Amino acid sequence: MGDKRYGPPKGSTGMSDYHQSRDELAGLPQTVAEKIPVTNTPNIFSYKSYVFAKNPALVQRYIKATKADVGGVGGHVVAAEEVKSIIAKFVMDNNGYNGEPIFTSLIVTHTGDDVAVTGIMAESVDMSVVDELMWDALNEGARKAAELGLYGPGQDLVADAFTGNLRGTGPATVALALPVRKDNASQTVLVSYADKTEPMAFNYYATGAYLLPRFNTGLVIAASKMKRGYIFDVVDLDTKAQAIEAGAHPRDQKALDGKMEELAKGLQEKVISLRGPEDLYDIEGLCRSSRFVIARIWSRNDNGERDSLGYICSAERLHNIKTKKGFTYGGKDDPVLLAFAQGDWPAPGEITSPWAAAPMVAGDCRGSHNLHILPMPINSQTSYWSGPIISAVTLSCNIHTGRIGAISDQFALGTPWDVVRQQAAQLAIQFRNAHGIKQPATLHEDELEYQEGWKERRARLEQSFEFRPAFTLGNGDGHSVNGGAKPAAVGAGKSETD
Ligand code: 13P
Ligand code: MG
Ligand code: MG
Repeated sequence: MGDKRYGPPKGSTGMSDYHQSRDELAGLPQTVAEKIPVTNTPNIFSYKSYVFAKNPALVQRYIKATKADVGGVGGHVVAAEEVKSIIAKFVMDNNGYNGEPIFTSLIVTHTGDDVAVTGIMAESVDMSVVDELMWDALNEGARKAAELGLYGPGQDLVADAFTGNLRGTGPATVALALPVRKDNASQTVLVSYADKTEPMAFNYYATGAYLLPRFNTGLVIAASKMKRGYIFDVVDLDTKAQAIEAGAHPRDQKALDGKMEELAKGLQEKVISLRGPEDLYDIEGLCRSSRFVIARIWSRNDNGERDSLGYICSAERLHNIKTKKGFTYGGKDDPVLLAFAQGDWPAPGEITSPWAAAPMVAGDCRGSHNLHILPMPINSQTSYWSGPIISAVTLSCNIHTGRIGAISDQFALGTPWDVVRQQAAQLAIQFRNAHGIKQPATLHEDELEYQEGWKERRARLEQSFEFRPAFTLGNGDGHSVNGGAKPAAVGAGKSETD
């Protein structure tokens, strides 16, 4: 890339340009003397001269969330505060495009070993510039991670270089257009981040409150657009399977690579749009495996057609990205989700409700298991077996000023989610101890990550397999390695009665 297109906004004076939510109560009487810590609420950085503007321009604004693992403390356990701060600093120091701030408000969080930058920006900002800023900020974070000796510095920055867009480079990134309306400036946005799992995990969200009245009564009783159901874009993420279906032989790595490269070209996706509730069985049928992910959900107009986009998740798989090392990558794809809540969209508690039953998802340690996912407060670490975790926060956004005004943490401590965490933990312990390395506690061999060792072992064993006459008791047919009833007779293949 040539010269950087971002830089400090016009007249920037550094951090004093930003309001920080942690200072909100400065000068006001404090109504609470002591607090029980229930979550690590993120500090909200807001560009003062914009979010406190008396007459803000009524413009289209976007919310964008970008997430990547740039190095973990203690292996893949948790992101480092210093790395997060370096990323936040880089973004705020360079938060300008054509003199205007890029993000009017932003937060920097972590979920397990993944760092996320989530913020609001205006339509005047070129998305490829924001992507470049994110790529460079995450690379700064990776440099700090290396300096601190963290594990896997730059783990998810898979592409060899930035080429104009974050898609296909490693970090997960999604954006939603905020509504534009004169009245009622408030919009609730739910942001969810998952670690040690894959985008398919979010199918639990999508096939819950958007599809089934048992998760969301509003589908039946609300007067909003919700009563018409939603339109679901389901994406096929398995380019390897697509390559095989297109004729490449599964053992012909060159043919597979060639086909996968062709499929990845032009940033295209293989997608089908289905309607809820009409296509319920088709949606549920596709969305039960890792291959198919509900990437986007649209509300429906009077004619039942696409209205506005209110749900988007990072439906991408890192092992589909070609690097110098080919298509291999260790780890799952730790997704991120943005969704509107309230109004034409489900309430936050409805959206999160499928997690209350503690479903199992693929991922976990070595990206090679199924395990019950733990709903955790924002800025949490992973725990036993490096198990899958999910966090969900709701942002109160002012669509007129572009300010994230306040945050609630859906899975905070001290809520009934404590019971879910405990149940999920108990189920997980039972499940792992009962099955050990066996399926379904480990994944099918096609889905194992870091599997080179298994491939070697499997290939060696394959060499020693042989075809013999089917074993029947007493035929002495050469099943001699402690397996046969009798030692093999001289003149192998002959039975004793010959
Ligand atoms: P991450 O993808 O979160 O780095 O996890 C890798 C892994 O498999 C840890 O065991
Ligand atoms: Mg990691
Ligand atoms: Mg991770």
